[in-house]
Amino acid sequence: MNPTTSQQVPHFLSMADLSADDLGVVLERSADPDPPRTLLGGRGAGLIFEKPSARTRNSTEMAVVQLGGHPVTIRPDEIGLGEREAISDVARVLSRYFAVLGARTFAHRTLTELASHSLVPVINLLSDDGHPIQILADLLTLQHEFGDIAPLEIAWVGDANNVARSLARGSALAGYSVRLCGPAGYRFDDAELARLAEAGADVTVVDDPIEAVTGAHAVYTDTWTSMGQEEEAHRRRVAFEGYQVTEELLEAARDDAILLHCLPAHRGEEVTDGALDGPRSRVFDQAENRMHAARGLIWWLVERCDAARAGDAAAEGRRNRG
Ligand code: CP
Ligand code: NVA
Repeated sequence: MNPTTSQQVPHFLSMADLSADDLGVVLERSADPDPPRTLLGGRGAGLIFEKPSARTRNSTEMAVVQLGGHPVTIRPDEIGLGEREAISDVARVLSRYFAVLGARTFAHRTLTELASHSLVPVINLLSDDGHPIQILADLLTLQHEFGDIAPLEIAWVGDANNVARSLARGSALAGYSVRLCGPAGYRFDDAELARLAEAGADVTVVDDPIEAVTGAHAVYTDTWTSMGQEEEAHRRRVAFEGYQVTEELLEAARDDAILLHCLPAHRGEEVTDGALDGPRSRVFDQAENRMHAARGLIWWLVERCDAARAGDAAAEGRRNRG
């Protein structure tokens, strides 16, 4: 088969890869109880994981199965990405086997390198830059809870990390506002805040956790120490003292406010057991929605890629007929 060129392939490396309309379609498809169960028709998904995962790996594998495909999870030591051979060659080879690729990487650059040489869509399954597929599941959760997500106010209490960055970028597409609250040294710098504002994100930085959550529809937190930062764990625990999400803090939000956490949680650090297991918590709905969001996203990406490929084949047919 004549593969489509890598320039025409849609990828999902960042929330910024979607328009507001694209996001609406992806969320609609994610919520569709009747997805196209033979879309992949036995084609595969190659999922590379440089870091551990419970939710992302399993939810994405199941999403692929639900679309009639075959997931293959690949550990970095099995392929030696960038060591045994160039990332670009791995992308060229794997994209001959699979209808879609996904990668969880330390360096975001690995993802951009894969995408620039892949003949099929590449999905960011978490990098140091962002975790956009998580945000799709979060928006699905918020939509289910509140309906329209555009007017929502979301308080992020914790580290300005990969998840926070994707949440902030999503604001530019979906219209919700984000109040970011964390200690000095663990916030987005002015240049990043300026880039977010320029992209249309409604993001403000607030010092006091109570001020951050007041009026919020959702309070979102994540681990203070992300994967790869383990040696900073002690320093971070000290720095983040006072930024724990507790049942008391949640009481300062709206009466109908919900708690979000992408998980895995470090119980007793960024969030208490009482908050995580309490009535406001939607963290397990969020986790389930990872599967629905992955299915909606893969459906959308593969359909677009297949359409580009069909367009290429038709153009080649016209050229040959001449
Ligand atoms: N939220 C999330 O990405 O979880 P995993 O690290 O378990 O995949
Ligand atoms: N910020 C966390 C998210 C885990 C899903 C990390 O990068 O480890």
